[in-house]
Amino acid sequence: MRRVGVVGCGVMGAGLAEVCARAGRDVLVAASGPEGIARGRARLERSLAAGVRRGKVTEEDRDAALARVRFTTDLAGLRDRQLVLEAAPEHEPTKLRVFRTLDEVVEDPEAILASNTSALSVMKLARATDRPGQVLGLHFFNPAPVLRLVEVVSTLLTDDRARRTAEDFVTGVLGKQAIHVGDRSGFVVNALLVPYLLSAIRMYEAGYADAENIDKAMTLGCSHPMGPLALADLIGLDTVAAIGAALYEEFKEPAHAVPPLLSRMVDGGLLGRKSGRGFHTY
Ligand code: CAA
Repeated sequence: MRRVGVVGCGVMGAGLAEVCARAGRDVLVAASGPEGIARGRARLERSLAAGVRRGKVTEEDRDAALARVRFTTDLAGLRDRQLVLEAAPEHEPTKLRVFRTLDEVVEDPEAILASNTSALSVMKLARATDRPGQVLGLHFFNPAPVLRLVEVVSTLLTDDRARRTAEDFVTGVLGKQAIHVGDRSGFVVNALLVPYLLSAIRMYEAGYADAENIDKAMTLGCSHPMGPLALADLIGLDTVAAIGAALYEEFKEPAHAVPPLLSRMVDGGLLGRKSGRGFHTY
C-alpha cells in the first residue's frame, strides 16, 4: 500500500499524515477547506521540526516527508488510494458521510477504509458502505508520531484478509505495535483512560484541588508522563467530551457521563492546547 489517503488534518489527521510520510508513503490529505489545509500543514511542519530538534528526524527526512504530503479539499481526490485513514471529528453524522463518499470514490475494491474513531461504532461506518469487509478501525494515539500503539478494530463483518493487511502495514511499514480489539465503544485504551480523565475533571469541578495539584499528583505520584488535566488538554476537550458521550451512550455508566464543566468549556471554545486554553493556558 503505497498510496495513503488521510481524511481530516486536525491533531490526529496531521499526525497520521506525518507517520505515513515518514514511512515513505505517498500521502494525500483531504481537509474541509483552505484554512484547514493551512492549519494542518502548519501542524505537520511544527511536529517535524520538533522531531528534528529532538534528534529523531534528520533534516533530509523532514524535507522528504514534507514532499510526500499533498492536500486536497475534495474527497474525490482520494479515488486512487489503497488505504484511507479517516480522522474527521468524533461526530457520527460527519464520519458516516465520509464513509459513504469514500465508498463512492475509492476505485480499488481491495482498498482498506479505516477509521481512527475512538468510541463510535465501526460497524455503523462499515454499513455506510457497500464493502463492509474492507472497513475496520485503526486507532492511533496522540501524539501519533511518538506513541507506539495502534488498536486494530475488527467488526463482525471485517474480512480477515483486510485485517491482516492493515495490521502488516501498521507493524511492518509504520513500525508501531498492534493490539486486536473488538468493536465496542472506547476499545481498550479509552475504556480505561476516559473514566479516569472525567474523574479528574469532576475533582477539579468540585473545587477539591486545582489543576496544577491534580496533575502534579499523577505525574509525581504515579510517574505518568503528564497529569490527567494536561492530557485532556492535549487530546482536545471536545474530543474527550465526545468520547465520554459515546461511552455513556453504549454503557450507561455514571463514570462516563460528561461533567457539566467540560460541556461548558467545549461550548465556550476552551478546547485545550489546540485553542490555547483548557485546564491550563498555552
Ligand atoms: N517526533 C518524534 N519524536 C518526538 C516528537 C516528535 N515530534 N516529540 C517528542 N518526541 C519524542 C522525544 O524525542 C522522546 O523520545 P525518547 O524518550 O526516545 O527520547 C519522547 O518523544 C518523549 O518526549 P519528551 O520526553 O521530550 O517529552 P515531551 O514533553 O515532549 O513528551 C509526550 C510529550 C510524548 C506527549 C509525553 O508527555 C506523553 O507521552 N504524554 C502522554 C500522552 C498520552 O497519554 N497520549 C494518549 C492520549 S489518548 C489518545 O490519543 C486516544 C484517544 O482516542 C483520545
